[in-house]
Amino acid sequence: MHEKRLSTGIQQLDLLIEGGFHAGKTYLVVGEPGTGKTIFGLQFLYKGLKSGEKALYVAVDQKPTDVIEQAVSLGWDLSPFIEKKDFLLLDASAYIKSRVGSSEMKSDMQKVILELNNHITQTGARRVVIDPLGPLIATDDSNSRVQDQARMLLYSLQGQGKTTTLITSHSVGRSARGIEEYLVAGTIVLEMELANNRFVRILTVEKMRSTAFNPAQYLFNIVPVQGIVLQPMVD
Ligand SMILES: Nc1ncnc2c1ncn2[C@@H]1O[C@H](COP(=O)(O)OP(=O)(O)OP(=O)(O)O)[C@@H](O)[C@H]1O
Ligand SMILES: [Mg+2]
Repeated sequence: MHEKRLSTGIQQLDLLIEGGFHAGKTYLVVGEPGTGKTIFGLQFLYKGLKSGEKALYVAVDQKPTDVIEQAVSLGWDLSPFIEKKDFLLLDASAYIKSRVGSSEMKSDMQKVILELNNHITQTGARRVVIDPLGPLIATDDSNSRVQDQARMLLYSLQGQGKTTTLITSHSVGRSARGIEEYLVAGTIVLEMELANNRFVRILTVEKMRSTAFNPAQYLFNIVPVQGIVLQPMVD
């Protein structure tokens, strides 16, 4: 039996991973600042919105208005979807502010999970982006506590079953990845490298559960209208 696949919004990437992401699962886009994580997330949501799906974007490090502006700069007009209530942008900074000085970390995360699940149920969102996940789960506590929080949040999202989630994460080099990488169904790494005195953008499919794919790196560009566009790596 074929499980339903959801287009990533990047046509060339879909072809590499049997049609897209598994519906109902959670995926991670990891990369350093400016590598294209937010654009990837927007492209994923925009694809769904254009096919009549509902979508939710959780803005953690940026204001929703900045995210809308980023989309507009690429020629993606989200306003009709916002007006129709097909697209909701949540400002998650309130969750993080309320955590400062709070000793009840656990209930705080439970509140985030509860509210997120409520929004997903109310909007009927099939696609969710949390950009980035880090500040939402970061605590002053031990690493294991952070891992517990990440696990709680991701299990709850997967528990919904109907929602495909994309989380973004800042990378700190290849060897220092967060727990989220072990919990997700797939990981895509975005990088920028200097080659022949100019920067090139590189996308790597690093992990994709239940999917046959060729581990390879692809050069990509970010262009108006199409967004992220892959090209085969040429040596
Ligand atoms: N309209 C556009 N046309 C072409 N390229 C663009 C456009 N808008 C942004 N970019 C490119 O995309 C990059 C930013 O991508 P994005 O905001 O998705 O990165 P990010 O990984 O989310 O960064 P951060 O970690 O800071 O949030 C910019 O640095 C710029 O080079
Ligand atoms: Mg970003």
